[in-house]
Amino acid sequence: MLSIDRRTPQGAWELRALGQGELLVCIIVPQPVIAASLLTKKYKEFAAVDGISFEVEPGESFGLLGPNGAGKSTTMRMVGAVSTRTSGSLSILGLDPNDHGPEIRAQLGVVPQQDNLDMDLRVRDNLIVYGRYFGMSLSSCAAKAEELLEFAQLADRKKSKVGDLSGGMKRRLTIARSLMNDPKVLLLDEPTTGLDPQARHILWDRLFRLKEQGTTLLLTTHYMDEAEQLCDRLVVVDKGAIMAEGAPADLIRSYSTREVVELRFGSELNASVAEQLVGIGDRVEVLPDRILIYTDDGDGDLGWIVAKGLTPITSLVRRSSLEDVFLRLTGRSLIE
Ligand SMILES: Nc1ncnc2c1ncn2[C@@H]1O[C@H](COP(=O)(O)OP(=O)(O)OP(=O)(O)O)[C@@H](O)[C@H]1O
Ligand SMILES: [Mg+2]
Repeated sequence: MLSIDRRTPQGAWELRALGQGELLVCIIVPQPVIAASLLTKKYKEFAAVDGISFEVEPGESFGLLGPNGAGKSTTMRMVGAVSTRTSGSLSILGLDPNDHGPEIRAQLGVVPQQDNLDMDLRVRDNLIVYGRYFGMSLSSCAAKAEELLEFAQLADRKKSKVGDLSGGMKRRLTIARSLMNDPKVLLLDEPTTGLDPQARHILWDRLFRLKEQGTTLLLTTHYMDEAEQLCDRLVVVDKGAIMAEGAPADLIRSYSTREVVELRFGSELNASVAEQLVGIGDRVEVLPDRILIYTDDGDGDLGWIVAKGLTPITSLVRRSSLEDVFLRLTGRSLIE
């Protein structure tokens, strides 16, 4: 019997000749790696996660973008099978964490919001001890640790005490540690919070490489640039609920204009000047420290403002970002 089988990261199909001119075409639809439906977590009466639904496909990099207290870490803990849900359904790699916690955890890599490295152990030993938890032999732990120290650009620090590492190095070590068990899915809770721009870029580069190798990434962030750089798709979350879902560029197209003019007239004056800007652009937002004009022609609008005799202390024309999407959806700024 003839059988042709084609598999791609997006899906697969199989063609079988059954004989007598009969062909059977089987389309194999990939199962989502993570599927949450009306997922809810309550602490007493307070819903930290309030009925969120999303699916993450194999090889995808999916983000939860939201401000402090949005429920990102609470969601990550449920996905990581270390916290039980109050209601809704959740499937990780096709398994329900209520029934299959250990099997799920064995296949995940987890980078928690707070580094929880073992400060008493040296850099390399942190990796080896972690690998042993997964039942790996000492020799395979040692080989994997060498590989991951190279990957995390920490090979020259392998004998250092963890306490002597910089914040960015500790974060890279936590990521290296999360990869010891060759996880199919990597959960990253605020991977770069608190790091300087250079350290963030090094980390982004490492995460890109993992994505290129086909690792599925679920990450949380409240940095819009991080979400734009790393996520194929994301959900904007606020107060435990999903406000919007899509690819970063699609969200920006749907919820904002092409450009934004940012003007600062001084905190005392922004509100009164804004009254003179009625009718300009698509929309004007007045924040405590600046005025934002949503428009498709930033330079043209800025020229009009200056011609009107208004003299901002600073002015900037920029393209719209996910920050603008968040502001549009919630009326609040993402970074408080
Ligand atoms: N164990 C707990 N008991 C009671 N309330 C909790 C608990 N854990 C989290 N919360 C509350 O749930 C809400 C969501 O918290 P969570 O840590 O998930 O937010 P987050 O989006 O990760 O925020 P951040 O960006 O600050 O990390 C917050 O109001 C928090 O105070
Ligand atoms: Mg958090």
